[in-house]
Amino acid sequence: MKQAENREQIRSATRRWRQQGQQIALVPTMGKLHDGHLALVKAARLEADRVITSIYVNPAQFGKGEDFESYPRTLETDRRLLEQAGCDLLFVPTHRTIYPHGLGNAVRLLASPDLAASLEGESRPGHFDGVVTVVARLFNLVEPDIAVFGEKDYQQLLVIGRLVDDLGFDIRIVPVATIREASGLAMSSRNNYLEPAQRKAAGEMNAVLLEAAAGIKRAASDTTQVERAAAAKLESLGFRVEYVAIRRAEDFEMPGAADQKLRILAAAWCGQTRLIDNTEVIRVGI
Ligand code: PAJ
Repeated sequence: MKQAENREQIRSATRRWRQQGQQIALVPTMGKLHDGHLALVKAARLEADRVITSIYVNPAQFGKGEDFESYPRTLETDRRLLEQAGCDLLFVPTHRTIYPHGLGNAVRLLASPDLAASLEGESRPGHFDGVVTVVARLFNLVEPDIAVFGEKDYQQLLVIGRLVDDLGFDIRIVPVATIREASGLAMSSRNNYLEPAQRKAAGEMNAVLLEAAAGIKRAASDTTQVERAAAAKLESLGFRVEYVAIRRAEDFEMPGAADQKLRILAAAWCGQTRLIDNTEVIRVGI
């Protein structure tokens, strides 16, 4: 597997592939790779001739008091996993490659408020601005044909879809379903913060969302009612809930009675660890 760290290196690798008419897929990550990330790499291999995975812990998307400093950095293990998964190139940009004049002087993007202001955006002000800023930067450096993102971060997926639309990137976004542990817990680089007992309890979060989804499916029920019941259930299981929300899947609008494709999303603390999860809801026959 090749490795690139700056603009010249990434450009020279991709130029050759492009001249040969090969399609390039990019999988952006922040490292500490797990099976969720590797599922993205596998999907990328199916969609394109060449797969590039980027690892960059982006300071612009972390808020004050968040875990930027302590975010796990495990480059050697990540390298090995990517090699086994058949990744062609690991892009580990330096800070200067992403922010040539330093983050303080960087040109930054603002994520679309209709998609980014609520839920994660409300809990983590500026987070999605940091995400779209770095993803646009990565798109410009790598110029992929395809970029792969996980449904685990469902709101991020929509925000990036809009970035591509609004800035006219000629890139196809491929979504990949959430990979979970046997308990139902969505895999996350932050799960390592959980103690063993918490890790087991954390699996309940998915069960609560699935139960809520089933509740919505059964009837054209009041979604606010379902949100409240799911939040109460999570609290009773010991989570500290930030939000449980049911939204229209494609544009995050509040669901109307006739909308069939919905998403239920939640963020909750399990001890000192903040977890997010979401699941699809298809309402039929209403
Ligand atoms: P990171 O949290 O490392 O996630 C990288 C990609 O892996 C994202 O698209 C995320 O949705 C996906 N992913 C994480 N856990 C997953 C799981 N259990 N199943 C499926 N996919 C999963 O998301 C980011 O990094 C950053 O915001 C980034 C887009 C790289 C910009 O800095």
